[in-house]
Amino acid sequence: MPYKIFHFKSLASTQDKAREFSEKGLSNIVVIADVQTKGRGRFKRKWFSNSGGLYLSILLKPKNIQNLQYLTFAASIAVVKSIKKIANLSTSIKWPNDVHYKGKKLCGILTEGIFGKGNYAIVGVGLNVNQNKFPSEIKNIAASLKIIKKQNFNINNIAKSILDEFCTLYNYYNKNQFEIILKIWKKYCDTINKNVTAITKTKKLNGKAVGIDKNCNLLLKTKSNKIIKIIEGDINIRY
Ligand code: BTN
Repeated sequence: MPYKIFHFKSLASTQDKAREFSEKGLSNIVVIADVQTKGRGRFKRKWFSNSGGLYLSILLKPKNIQNLQYLTFAASIAVVKSIKKIANLSTSIKWPNDVHYKGKKLCGILTEGIFGKGNYAIVGVGLNVNQNKFPSEIKNIAASLKIIKKQNFNINNIAKSILDEFCTLYNYYNKNQFEIILKIWKKYCDTINKNVTAITKTKKLNGKAVGIDKNCNLLLKTKSNKIIKIIEGDINIRY
């Protein structure tokens, strides 16, 4: 997939800028910002976006917009592979979308769909690269490549690597070869077989993560051996 990169010093959110491009009918566009003043995460949470991080959004016009969760999976695979290649660091994926190192979050992914005249997907990636420290609210749960490896990394090189890896996986997506994406994702995911607490909008559930179904939902086995499907939410791994 050929793509065009638009690089900004500062934006409210790269997701919003990507949406503006979609309104002009454009796609295969990557928006990067050095800082975001209104970076956002899942469930409308704030995404801390000071300088030193990578903030990018990929605007796509996929044929299939029913399986967007696989784009999130594809992006997290691309991030794990790029971190391995560039920082020689092995990281893991926590369902559904976090890349972490020893339980500390390095990267979050937010995929948004635009359903209208044209259907679009915007895949947003926030990766902590060269930050030295984080605000107190997240300092115990966040990490950056710099904090872990004690060196700076070239943010553009990381972005390029993530985009290249993502494009390879996006080809599978466009051919509806979701099982290939899922298979690679499972290799890097460390949630399966762990005892977890799933926190959804309406409830909190304890169980063992026993699998992922073909819609990327997490399957949780409870104490009473019931299998419960978690469609959306956060999980805490109970080590
Ligand atoms: C999450 O873990 O909740 C997802 C975080 C996604 C953050 C990225 S940074 C680039 C893009 N622009 C945003 O405002 N959010 C995403």
